[in-house]
Amino acid sequence: MKTGDINKVLGKPLNRVDGHLKVTGGARYSAEFPVAKLAYGVTIQSTIAKGKIAQIDTRAAEQVPGVLAVITHLNAPKAFGDKGGGRKLQVLQDNIVLYSGQHIGVVVADTFERAMQAASLVQVRYEEEKPTLNMKDNLANAYVPQGKVPRNEPPDKSHGNINQGLATAAVRVEQTYTTPVENHNPMEPHATTAVWQGEQLLLYDATQGIFQCQEKVAGVLGIEPANVRTMSYYVGGGFGCKGSAWSHVPLAAMAARQVNRPVKLVLGRIQMYGPVGYRPETIQQVSLGATREGKLTALRHSGTSQTSTFDEFIEPVAKTARMIYACPNIETSHRLVRLDEGTPTFMRAPGEASGSFALESAMDELAYALNIDPIELRLRNYAETDADKGLPWSSKSLRQCYKLGASRFGWQKRNPKPRSMRDGNYLVGWGMATATYPTNRSPASAIAQIMADGTAVVRTGSQDIGTGTYTVMTQVAAEALGIPVNKIRIELGDTTLPKTPVSGGSQTAASVGSSVHLAGTEARSKLMQLALADQKSPLYGSKAEDIIAEDGSFFLKNKSSTTETYREILARHGLKMIEASADAKPGEEKEKYSMHSFGAQFAEVRVEPDLGEVRVTRWVGAYGVGRLLNAKTANSQLVGGIVYGIGMALMEHTVIDPHRGRIVNADLAEYHVPVNADVPAIEVLFVDEHDPYVNPLGVKGIGEIGITGTAAAIANAVYHATGKRIRDLPITLDKLL
Ligand code: MOS
Repeated sequence: MKTGDINKVLGKPLNRVDGHLKVTGGARYSAEFPVAKLAYGVTIQSTIAKGKIAQIDTRAAEQVPGVLAVITHLNAPKAFGDKGGGRKLQVLQDNIVLYSGQHIGVVVADTFERAMQAASLVQVRYEEEKPTLNMKDNLANAYVPQGKVPRNEPPDKSHGNINQGLATAAVRVEQTYTTPVENHNPMEPHATTAVWQGEQLLLYDATQGIFQCQEKVAGVLGIEPANVRTMSYYVGGGFGCKGSAWSHVPLAAMAARQVNRPVKLVLGRIQMYGPVGYRPETIQQVSLGATREGKLTALRHSGTSQTSTFDEFIEPVAKTARMIYACPNIETSHRLVRLDEGTPTFMRAPGEASGSFALESAMDELAYALNIDPIELRLRNYAETDADKGLPWSSKSLRQCYKLGASRFGWQKRNPKPRSMRDGNYLVGWGMATATYPTNRSPASAIAQIMADGTAVVRTGSQDIGTGTYTVMTQVAAEALGIPVNKIRIELGDTTLPKTPVSGGSQTAASVGSSVHLAGTEARSKLMQLALADQKSPLYGSKAEDIIAEDGSFFLKNKSSTTETYREILARHGLKMIEASADAKPGEEKEKYSMHSFGAQFAEVRVEPDLGEVRVTRWVGAYGVGRLLNAKTANSQLVGGIVYGIGMALMEHTVIDPHRGRIVNADLAEYHVPVNADVPAIEVLFVDEHDPYVNPLGVKGIGEIGITGTAAAIANAVYHATGKRIRDLPITLDKLL
């Protein structure tokens, strides 16, 4: 940025500050650290879903040249349980097999190839038991979750009287919607490099949460978190699967200790399916009742999802139904079925993505039943407040989103009759849906240092999971410090830096951004106070409110010739730097306002009438997400979310063998995700939204809202094109024929 732009650096489409490093290979990912004497770990995985290891023969593996250890439950060091939060892990402490793909051994060798070969020679004999693998056949065993729905909500909630609301409705829609198991598929697999330096453990880990990884691994190993240093400088995507440490992370540390050498353990693509979480299968019932005029009288959303036999994860599908529409009678519930599979986990907008498919499809069905335009139906039930929490919105621009999106998309030209729009042989369908995601924020700390040479360093834990954290934090720091972006260095990704939350729940910009903003503002203010109190400064005796900070200098607002550079001030005081730290955390605003992002998704599909092939051919999304920190990365975040939603709607489906629980499409050839040819021009629009309540920067988070409502908008467009309502994802051609 050039002089004069400083105070407008926030929101600018700054290129990624780490872009050059990334395209030149200079950005080091967790499997790329050149560590001396590095050994390679490869895990052995169970091939059954339930039972015991009766015998495990490692003799042939141990004979392979270069093999340093074959670690199984027979010789693994003792672990210390599951302190430190996150998922329950399997770290070779017994012979019990809980799911297919469970790590049941680690082979360590001097080369990766030797470790792979040795791992293939380990012979395992199981006492196999009959696993429970099918949720639909086991709904009788569904139970009320013991824990809270993510972000501390009860599993069940109701307002008013749902039965009365349904009984008095003139029109009802009651349907079941299902979504399959889906896997995250980040380009970078999970990877851990574990290095012991005496009692100190260094972990280079592909994680969305360095501090959460540190605590978990320390808990499993029974050591102090202070003795674990986790580093994660670049992450090649997470989408939730890297939001908690899985079994292979402590296993890498245990293996490194056992062979007394650093160990690198990278999961192969096939190993990314099973032991590291997935989006669970869901079965959802939605009941809507409405008056003839389209006012909702009843809204019921009940979701059942799978969890493992030893841990609980709840896909919070029905949470959105609690706040998204005004309705006097609302009932929501979550149930779980235990299966002999790995524990599911967060996957991009967990609950909001899968749940909005059901709810927003049902709203479209209701619009057809009432013969009311789907946007108009949503406007007639517009929630002016969050009735569930009994709070006003901190800000809500959903009306503007509907309007802006509809106008850009050309919605008024839509003939609502199914099969009424064609392009040559193709059936054309237009569908829409509401998008929403909560605005989350957690405590975060940062230190800002203004250096004697006029540059600045900002240090904060956190991690850039590919979303642009380095870049937007550079902009936040530049704004706060009054220093150009090219003179700012952001240090992230190391637990020796100030503490920050997991990069999940779309909360990094709000949480870490607030701490960087406060630390930067405080450092600038300290420096300014030095000048104002210094008789040798031209600014001596001026009032702070009359000073502008720009381009590494202070100016008098009305007399810009009265100025002093940061360098001059620091030099005159003989200081190498001036620094300030900040601990930023949410305050009482959470009790006063309900905070959510909102948006409207508009999809156009073309369906080949004889073959049932669906192509998404156009997309317009309009969003109110508070302040944008960077117009370019924000656009990318939303586009990424929509692409993820296209995959969810049309392709993604993890197929599990019903006998042994093995995932049969565990690679990117068989598990389909959208490629460029599957993705149309996507137009992302933002409503100008100023939210003074959410956090000091007014940002609401953009990582996940893009995938919400997306699958429903496509399903609704497919209905419009074909007259066929598909309530079971993904919408593959067999379902349309
Ligand atoms: Mo996200 S599913 O909160 O990493």
